[in-house]
Amino acid sequence: MQKILVIHGPNLNLLGQRETSVYGVTTMEDINTNLQQIAKDKGIGLVFLQSNHEGDIVDAIGKAKANDIGAIVINPAAYTHTSIAIRDAIAAVTIPAVEVHLSNIYKREEFRHQSMIAPVCQGQVSGFGVQSYELGLLAAIRLVKA
Ligand code: DQA
Repeated sequence: MQKILVIHGPNLNLLGQRETSVYGVTTMEDINTNLQQIAKDKGIGLVFLQSNHEGDIVDAIGKAKANDIGAIVINPAAYTHTSIAIRDAIAAVTIPAVEVHLSNIYKREEFRHQSMIAPVCQGQVSGFGVQSYELGLLAAIRLVKA
């Protein structure tokens, strides 16, 4: 079975209680359950990682090829705007990646307008709430099946 790695960056473990006016009330567990259902219907396996630590995310991306991962869906959260290490990891593994954000980062504070990660991804989905993950996963499924 083809596999997709879904990465949630820092503080996304707090979804459901964190700044609900921006991020909504759906928990990360609920997002994962929903994604699992979509993937199952399409015959794709999902592997999930949530970490508040940049190095853990870099390690998981670095091992993705060895772990037979065909595509990555990543919400790098605050690391979107700062992490050259995550960017370089994605560039290094040459596995197609899709960046997702619950909020529209371009409508928010200026420091969120720049993504370090987007230039090494196939594309980005930003601003559709939990649907950003669904759209990102559908794009990633296309990429693994291509
Ligand atoms: C986020 C947007 C980031 O700017 C922020 O740091 C997050 C969540 C989003 O999903 O909208 O933690 O990635």
